[in-house]
Amino acid sequence: MDAPNACIFPYGTAGLATAAARIIAGGLVAVPTETVYGLAADATNGAAVAGIYAAKGRPSFNPLIVHVADLAAAERLAVFDADARALAVAFWPGPLTLVLPLRGNAGIAGLVTAGLDTIAIRVPRHRAMQALIAATDRPLAAPSANASGGISPTCAAHVAASLGAAVAVILDDGPTEAGIESTIVATTPALALLRPGPVTSEAITALLSRVPVAHAGGIVAPGQLASHYAPTKPLRLDATQAGANEWLIGFGAVAGDDTLSDDGDLIEAAARLFGALHRADASDRRMIAVAPVPHHGIGAAINDRLARAAHR
Ligand code: TXA
Ligand code: MG
Repeated sequence: MDAPNACIFPYGTAGLATAAARIIAGGLVAVPTETVYGLAADATNGAAVAGIYAAKGRPSFNPLIVHVADLAAAERLAVFDADARALAVAFWPGPLTLVLPLRGNAGIAGLVTAGLDTIAIRVPRHRAMQALIAATDRPLAAPSANASGGISPTCAAHVAASLGAAVAVILDDGPTEAGIESTIVATTPALALLRPGPVTSEAITALLSRVPVAHAGGIVAPGQLASHYAPTKPLRLDATQAGANEWLIGFGAVAGDDTLSDDGDLIEAAARLFGALHRADASDRRMIAVAPVPHHGIGAAINDRLARAAHR
């Protein structure tokens, strides 16, 4: 067993070799992407994938995203229609996940898709995740690297705090850039936004000249469960000042104990969101309040996460 404080390896040749060996042996590696840290395993190895569910305490019906090197690798696993290909060309590598029909001979472990005939797939941009895919030559299943229902990790210390000894290898390449999970889109049976994220609904509409519906019949991302993004403390939305025993997370003109962005920048707010929730959870105040955040652009994803965090 690795000592709990010996599991963080800086990104580099040695850390990458350790991480790749762990994946090929059927183990788990926490690795940064441009969105949040993922908990990766070989998507073709059912036992390895089961290890992800176990480490996270994740409900087995909640399927995982598969990360691959490029569009060609993705097309070996899933069937792309014209819309899916246009989205991939425009936004990959990057923070967009496509839910597409799974190819029968893809070789992906059944646990990855949790029994669905679709697969969630994305080509990440982050150098560490790309290097791990190249070094292992495997598609990598990776949910966010936190205990199920907890706050998504945006740095190696969050992973260690949430998963502890359940993950032996954490590849540390600093804080993540977007700080919020990828946008999830399905193109069949209808163009549908299953989870808002860094690739905005407006950008998708501009590319395809169609507005995605909120979700398509029968396809639901279980990550939309109301309690999915929950800090441990009660959370009050649209607060303009802190009440008794509240830790206020500010935005723009609303100053607080902390701020998502003091100049009202939504991209910065998304990147800081989970870190701010972690700090609020760790504070000595019993409750959390959050300033109003506009709903346009990536603000939709921020408000989506905040609404889930407030629901209890
Ligand atoms: O940014 C991200 O997407 C991060 C990084 C690590 O890539 N990953 C991530 O994974 O957020 P996770 O497991 O926390 O969220 C995956 C979401 C879940 O809501 C899951 O239900 C949904 O994707 N999902 C996976 N496969 C699906 C499918 N076939 N149909 C519908 N939803 C699916
Ligand atoms: Mg998650």
